[in-house]
Amino acid sequence: MTPITAPARPAPPTLPHWEQTPGDLAAAIREIKHALRARIESSGRTVDEVFAVISERVRVKVTEIAEAKERGETVWPVIEYADIEKGSVTPEELTKLRSRGCLVVRGHFPREQALAWDQDIVEYVEGNQFFENYRGPGDDFFGSVGSKPEIYPIYWSPAQMQARQSDRMARVQSFLNAQWISESGGVKWFDPDRDSLYPDRIRRRPEGADSAGLGTHLDPGTLDLWMTTAYQNAFRHLFDGTVEEYDPWDASFRTSGPQYPGSTMCSAFRTFQGWTALSDMDHDQGVLHTVPIPEAMGYLMLRPLLDDVADDDMCGVTVNQVFPANEEWHPLLIQALSGIPDVKAGDSVWWHADMIHSVDPVVDQKGWGNVMYTPAAPWCPRNETYSASVLQAFQTGSSPSDFPEEHYERSWTNRFHEADLNDTGRRGLGIG
Ligand SMILES: [Fe+2]
Repeated sequence: MTPITAPARPAPPTLPHWEQTPGDLAAAIREIKHALRARIESSGRTVDEVFAVISERVRVKVTEIAEAKERGETVWPVIEYADIEKGSVTPEELTKLRSRGCLVVRGHFPREQALAWDQDIVEYVEGNQFFENYRGPGDDFFGSVGSKPEIYPIYWSPAQMQARQSDRMARVQSFLNAQWISESGGVKWFDPDRDSLYPDRIRRRPEGADSAGLGTHLDPGTLDLWMTTAYQNAFRHLFDGTVEEYDPWDASFRTSGPQYPGSTMCSAFRTFQGWTALSDMDHDQGVLHTVPIPEAMGYLMLRPLLDDVADDDMCGVTVNQVFPANEEWHPLLIQALSGIPDVKAGDSVWWHADMIHSVDPVVDQKGWGNVMYTPAAPWCPRNETYSASVLQAFQTGSSPSDFPEEHYERSWTNRFHEADLNDTGRRGLGIG
């Protein structure tokens, strides 16, 4: 008698892919949605079933967060810098960090140091007549407040570079990178102990400011997240019927792929986005919020495949605009939006690179709202490629290529110079 075996399941259909922005976006969206649905269904599960699994995972967290708020607890994990330095962060703190995907590092820098950096930045921009020469926002994503900008397109001040190449920054970046899986299947996807020094801007929002804030969105990419081979591999478990295995901390395939160009793009792979506070800020003064659920990315990626979304629509995601998260398509997620607690100058704030975030509006802001953006962008093929253009921008005082071509600092002779780099700075720029 022949043993009964289950019929072999045919190999799942391969996915079409576009390594550059497709010429016909609507056609490409229709094609990829059809292919993703077919691929999921070839596993024997329906798209609805797969989405229900990720929804449930998210719903459990949404409930947990609502209950924490009810109890008056701080939703955001808070860890003392001193504990990161000593290696004495507790397992409970680590569990909360991995669960929520965001973090406040208390006392990352001494408060006096942060306030001195803030003052140095003021002197740096004023001494170089930045405000007299300011030509208005170089992109339409961050508005300006009154005649002075809120976001300063300044990248190479001594203050920013001192923070970027400091031991304290390197230690926190390594700690955060270590929350990710950086090695799997014999591949080292990134080096958790080397940062690529991703230059970003400064925000200085003055006392009394009114600001419209920023709506809920995410930054890792747009249509490329569904359409390039690298991301299709990175999100493989969402699309092949093994959704239970989707791990938002797995860096596999994320560190070498291309990204579609756009005015708000980030060429680098970041484990966490972050900023360091250069002023004290209260939690109700127009601060950062996140949906502190790393798994929400799985929800965002699968939601457009449901039947109630038009065939040529990815729930509003398109190239050259930030990836929106909203009440229309993601009401479950938006419920969990949680703001940072009060922070002091010298604290730093971090959120998983895929995380939904927003900035609250504020009217007549109390105190300043000053931050220096510094992410954790560990060394990997993608960041190594970008670092070549960063080095050139650094040497010439130019705006880095991910940002509008404003180049204010080219003629500013007191910007940070190559001779001032330490080992961390050199390694970050690929010259050490
Ligand atoms: Fe953002």
